[in-house]
Amino acid sequence: MSLVVIVGPPGSGKTTVGRALAEALGAPFRDADADIVAVAGKPIADIFVDDGEEHFRALEREAVRRAVAEHDGVLALGGGAVLADSTRKLLADTTVVHLRVDVAEAVRRNEIDKGRPLLAVNPRATLRRLLEERLPLYREVADFEIDTTGRDVAGLAEEIRAKL
Ligand code: S3P
Repeated sequence: MSLVVIVGPPGSGKTTVGRALAEALGAPFRDADADIVAVAGKPIADIFVDDGEEHFRALEREAVRRAVAEHDGVLALGGGAVLADSTRKLLADTTVVHLRVDVAEAVRRNEIDKGRPLLAVNPRATLRRLLEERLPLYREVADFEIDTTGRDVAGLAEEIRAKL
């Protein structure tokens, strides 16, 4: 199997759908955010508070570079990973799936899964802005995109598997 990378905004289901896709493919799953937490030895929210977003982005670029070089299977990236030019260049040679979500559903999912430092204040307005600003970047790297709004995880994993 080769590498399949999942990108998309916070709340688009990258980790959940990525895991289900890996299972459907019988391939290993890896999450770049989890790699960053392991390297830093603390949660992402603490990295933002203690060391700042710039430091987090540097750790993220390195975690993605390492994962793309090492991993064979499904790899989920954090929502902001595509902001880095170097990361977008790396992704040019891999299969990339862009998961979309509408603002209302991203807000709902963020309510359930707290702990995103960028969304601690004003999540709705911030998500609206992030979705809009990053859409061209997700599209630049993606081979195809799927709207996850109102969809169940198993159905999404199956649709992606069929498109690979
Ligand atoms: C971020 C998204 C998060 C995480 C960090 C920054 C972003 O990942 O990497 O909090 O800039 O959108 P998820 O997209 O998995 O929530």
